[in-house]
Amino acid sequence: MLIKRAPELQSSEQTPKQIYLERRKFIAGLSLAAGASLAGKNLWNLLAPSAHVHASNKLSGVVKSSYRTDETQTPYEDATHYNNFYEFGTDKSDPAKNAQNFRTSPWTVTVDGEVKKPRKFSMDEILKLAPLEERVYRHRCVEAWSMVVPWIGYSFSELAKLVEPTPKARYVAFESYYDPRQMPLGSRAGIPLPYVDGLRLDEAMHPLALLTVGMYGESLPNQDGAPVRMILPWKYGFKSIKSLVRIRFVKDQPPVTWNLANSREYGFYSNVNPAVDHPRWTQAKERRLGEFFKRPTLMFNGYADQVAGLYSGMDLRKNF
Ligand code: MTE
Repeated sequence: MLIKRAPELQSSEQTPKQIYLERRKFIAGLSLAAGASLAGKNLWNLLAPSAHVHASNKLSGVVKSSYRTDETQTPYEDATHYNNFYEFGTDKSDPAKNAQNFRTSPWTVTVDGEVKKPRKFSMDEILKLAPLEERVYRHRCVEAWSMVVPWIGYSFSELAKLVEPTPKARYVAFESYYDPRQMPLGSRAGIPLPYVDGLRLDEAMHPLALLTVGMYGESLPNQDGAPVRMILPWKYGFKSIKSLVRIRFVKDQPPVTWNLANSREYGFYSNVNPAVDHPRWTQAKERRLGEFFKRPTLMFNGYADQVAGLYSGMDLRKNF
């Protein structure tokens, strides 16, 4: 279950610590005065929105994309404190705690393999490579919870066309950063690291595939995959690989971390599919964070109109 935590302070741009602590004391006092703890909690939520301290920086020049659902957006606090990022621990609350000091600058992403123009991109180059768009996507984890998140980035194809994939490129292999010194819990994650994932070239080139540098108007918090990750809204969340350092265009289907860890339970494609259950639980329904009743899961997470054509003629039970 979702545990809301008081956010931690990280950078000098945020509310000065003393003011923040005073405000907390003041609100805590009000909450006590209000009596019952439930009333206090509601009062806290009403009075304390500014006490939520962002660890990231505002991104400028972001345009609103037409790729957006008008469903209620998941609160920032929930989307940034209920995470899977096994390099920083396996509990949902671990990444927000343990990734705070993760060094994401300087950062480069190497793009190579079957391309005419292999190159290394600095984070600065990635941020300026194409206009930044805000896209509000449904985000559905294989564990049957979901969120609605305003991500910021641009289609992965923008980067791909700069390196000019050769006709031999049929897949794209992605790799996350891994440094056991900065990620000591990685050795206990129970999955092979560095985290890797892959897509067929046509999936990667689909306009919905988002090279993501921010969320909620700001750069990505560390726990959400700073400084750059993929977001693939029609696939289970584990395909949305975080903290990318390498992208390779390749001939053969590349390995996928969760498939390496357990091939019976996690396939290469992992398209959201309510008709194909996980061996240990149903995928027909999901719990949207913050909601009590489960809701039906939609084929391709509601993006069937856009992506179903990528899989025409394929047996999606076999290719799960
Ligand atoms: N990327 C890396 N490097 N390590 C991870 O453990 N977890 C995946 C995916 N990307 C993961 C990762 C899983 S299981 C999910 S559901 C999403 O990230 C979660 O993204 P979020 O925490 O931003 O919601």
